Amino acid sequence: MNIILMGYMGSGKSLIGQELSKALNLDFVDFDSFIEEREGVSINIIFETKGEIHFRKLESLYLKELLDTVSNSIVSLGGGTPCYGNNIQLIKSSNNAKSIYLNLSVSELSNRLLKDKAKRPLLKFIDSKMDMDEFVGKHLFERINFYNQADIIINANKKPKDVVEEIVLQLF
Ligand code: S3P
Repeated sequence: MNIILMGYMGSGKSLIGQELSKALNLDFVDFDSFIEEREGVSINIIFETKGEIHFRKLESLYLKELLDTVSNSIVSLGGGTPCYGNNIQLIKSSNNAKSIYLNLSVSELSNRLLKDKAKRPLLKFIDSKMDMDEFVGKHLFERINFYNQADIIINANKKPKDVVEEIVLQLF
């Protein structure tokens, strides 16, 4: 079985994914790192040198490849992955997989992201809490219909170990 974690930037996909992989004894794949390894450069550099549209093309290609080959794994997607091209269809039709949306409020996401935006090209130029609230609010609104198509929606506004516990409860 594969478990596919989705959610906005800062929702804890990578951390929860790692913890969940330990709890369930499954492998862990971080999709951003997968892209970086395959391309041999960081996502920041891909955005800077080739732009977002090019990144989205790579993201769709690698998503298909990953979902076709992965098994017994937790996969943490990038925040935008389900929201472009036919990626959400790929996710939903993936064999023996459950998708999970880690849901957090705009305000909680914005607080987290202000502290941790260095490696996120889309947030680089946002400096104040007010601007971050506004950006995340609009951006999440554009994306929420995709995230809401997950098989399971989890309230992720709690400690990682409690989020993991809730996911395990809902899965089995
Ligand atoms: C993005 C989220 C990032 C990364 C890229 C674009 C997005 O992943 O894929 O910077 O569009 O939300 P994280 O959600 O892991 O930060």
